[in-house]
Amino acid sequence: MTPTWERDTFLAAVGDAVWAPSIHNSQPWRFRYTREGVDVLVDPGRVLAACDPDGRAARVSCGAAAYTLRLALAAAGEPAQYTIGRDGVAARLTPGRTRRATPAELRLHRQIRRRHTNRFPFADNPVEPAALAALADAAGQEGGWLQFVTGEADLNGVAELIRGADGRLSADPAYVAELSAWSRGADHRVEGVHPEAAGDAPHPAELLHRRDFGGPEHDATRDPTHAPLVAVLGVHGDGPADEVRAGMALQRVLLCAADLGLAVAMFSQPIEVPAAREGLRRLLDRPHLPQMVLRFGYAPTTCYTNRRPVADVVEP
Ligand SMILES: Cc1cc2nc3c(=O)[nH]c(=O)nc-3n(C[C@H](O)[C@H](O)[C@H](O)COP(=O)(O)O)c2cc1C
Repeated sequence: MTPTWERDTFLAAVGDAVWAPSIHNSQPWRFRYTREGVDVLVDPGRVLAACDPDGRAARVSCGAAAYTLRLALAAAGEPAQYTIGRDGVAARLTPGRTRRATPAELRLHRQIRRRHTNRFPFADNPVEPAALAALADAAGQEGGWLQFVTGEADLNGVAELIRGADGRLSADPAYVAELSAWSRGADHRVEGVHPEAAGDAPHPAELLHRRDFGGPEHDATRDPTHAPLVAVLGVHGDGPADEVRAGMALQRVLLCAADLGLAVAMFSQPIEVPAAREGLRRLLDRPHLPQMVLRFGYAPTTCYTNRRPVADVVEP
């Protein structure tokens, strides 16, 4: 049996992995150091009961963390092999053959702590076609797909699904209380979405209705989501393991975007409402359910959210 990574290598890689995106910055993951390698586990105590009753978003978040862990290990010259969804483990990493990191891995690795979700207005200039191809390729490399939504009718259709889903979710007091606890009420030193990362409060007139993380009220002079480049991400299956894979594809796309100098916003409200999710699947004419709606563009760096320390997320 190949011995596992040195503990310091493991801890350094987890130090990178925690910078993965997660639903409401809930960081619903744990990392277990074993004799064979590293297990990435869903932390059941951090699954969001109101907005994620089935744990789907937690599995996506864990997939994003597992991809980041893989990238960190590859950048250290000690890449991992992995399995997904076996023995109740989101992802199990074991040491592969040591090799030098590729320039592409090093570039993506440099983006792990630079990448962030951007809920502010994007510039008007269109995204280069080469960037679109690179983003779709990033999803494909992790077994996913990224479909750009072109044409006014489809874009309006996606916008309607986001708005309708957000309205549905916001009518549930438990959802609103949970969202408030993870935004206004969170301990922003270690978790949750900081009001400064929230962007202005969503305005009824904006095209893509943003989730309300408690940003300041304002007079809408300009729609922060105007002229959007929207894409939907998915994988080739709808089971729990597919959701972990979707998280891997998501994080690879996000890091690729950061490497290309692109800002990204996420909209998962229509993924959280089954009827809206099915509507989105039909609109895209896909055999499988979508996993995330993304908006890309050029924009200045905004506010970073924080993370819990490594000691809080590793199993003894
Ligand atoms: C499964 C999932 C769903 C998300 N849904 C949304 C969303 O609907 N709206 C939003 O603004 N951000 C969304 N995010 C982004 C998280 O809020 C963000 O990753 C987290 O707050 C950490 O911040 P960072 O991405 O800037 O590091 C989502 C992230 C994940 C992984």
